[in-house]
Amino acid sequence: MNFEYGINTKLVHAGEHTSRNVTALTSPIYQTSSFVIDELLPSGIKHGTYVYSRVSNPTLTALELKMAALEGGDAAVSFASGMAAISATLLALLKCGDHLIADRVLYGSTYELLTKGAPRLGFEVSFVDTSDPECVAEAVRDNTKVVFFETPANPTLKLVDIRKVSEVASENGAKTIVDNTFLTPYYQNPLELGADVVVHSATKYLNGHGDSLGGIVVSSSEDATNIRKGVLRDLGAALSPFNAFLILRGLRTLALRMERHTQNATQLASFLKAQKLVKRILYPKFDRNLELNPNLRTQMSGYGGMLAFEIRGGADEAVKFLNNLTLCKVAVSLGDPATLIEHPGLMTHAVVPKNEREKLGITENLIRVSVGLEDIKDIEADIEQALDAA
Ligand SMILES: Cc1ncc(COP(=O)(O)O)c(C=O)c1O
Repeated sequence: MNFEYGINTKLVHAGEHTSRNVTALTSPIYQTSSFVIDELLPSGIKHGTYVYSRVSNPTLTALELKMAALEGGDAAVSFASGMAAISATLLALLKCGDHLIADRVLYGSTYELLTKGAPRLGFEVSFVDTSDPECVAEAVRDNTKVVFFETPANPTLKLVDIRKVSEVASENGAKTIVDNTFLTPYYQNPLELGADVVVHSATKYLNGHGDSLGGIVVSSSEDATNIRKGVLRDLGAALSPFNAFLILRGLRTLALRMERHTQNATQLASFLKAQKLVKRILYPKFDRNLELNPNLRTQMSGYGGMLAFEIRGGADEAVKFLNNLTLCKVAVSLGDPATLIEHPGLMTHAVVPKNEREKLGITENLIRVSVGLEDIKDIEADIEQALDAA
């Protein structure tokens, strides 16, 4: 730095842009909006140069490379939230007049996006039960471009055969998008089963600490480029470098956390089965379709930390149960260290019309549990006393 510069120049430039050739063990947070262009070519900026963090940033690249490796995809694109990732993917793969097939059992905002937002953009949407691949085949039209589902689905934990549905889609020239938020790449890799695109709410298990929003799409290089350059760059729902850093930090312990979440959820499901006030348990391990469909048994290597159950009675009993919890927290979201319990009909899925919810099994007495990392005996004791109070 030239010491002759004035105080104002020193305030802005002194000490900045020093390349000391350091190699940080942990990916640093590149908390910058733009990047210095070392050399501008007569043809423009050299390909692959970082320019502006709305399009790319080294901290985001580290997260994207990790997720592409974990899901077995060519490339990944990160977003400010799971909903940003889902809407950008649909915008990149569909144009006005195209047809999309989706399951009806979806996270509430995804349901709202597909029922209200998609038709406004001129996308035709058919809702079918994708757990029956024949329903998907029957819904296909000449202009079908995308099949979208979650497995296990939020909040009923319904399972969909990724291989079979992807086959039906690709035979008809459509792409399959799987929301893999509940199982994460630790337990399920949809791309290896034939899906074309995987989307995640990174807010959940990937981050795993409940301290940042984020979304990720993993796909072929071609789709990723369309999603990044065709949508992210212009609509601008970019992930912040700080949140990317937190999600990267969370991912390093994903395996350990998923094992514990699953161990606790399996134990809690057995505990709930023995409770008089519990009418029905929804947990992938107990899904009767696992016996009937061998693909479902092999498509996931673990059952995850999400379960749901129906309490005997109606909405009053469900609400009383929730209001009596002390250790477990009544909250939306999932995949946090703390056990989070909610009433989908009144909370995450309140946007789904009541008659539609009932048809989908999102009943007044349905309670969703994101089983946390606490000692299982403490979770059970809290749930037991809240059931007694209900
Ligand atoms: C399965 C699933 N997909 C997508 C989302 C949306 O993610 P975000 O809240 O990060 O936008 C959620 C949120 O709960 C979800 O449960």
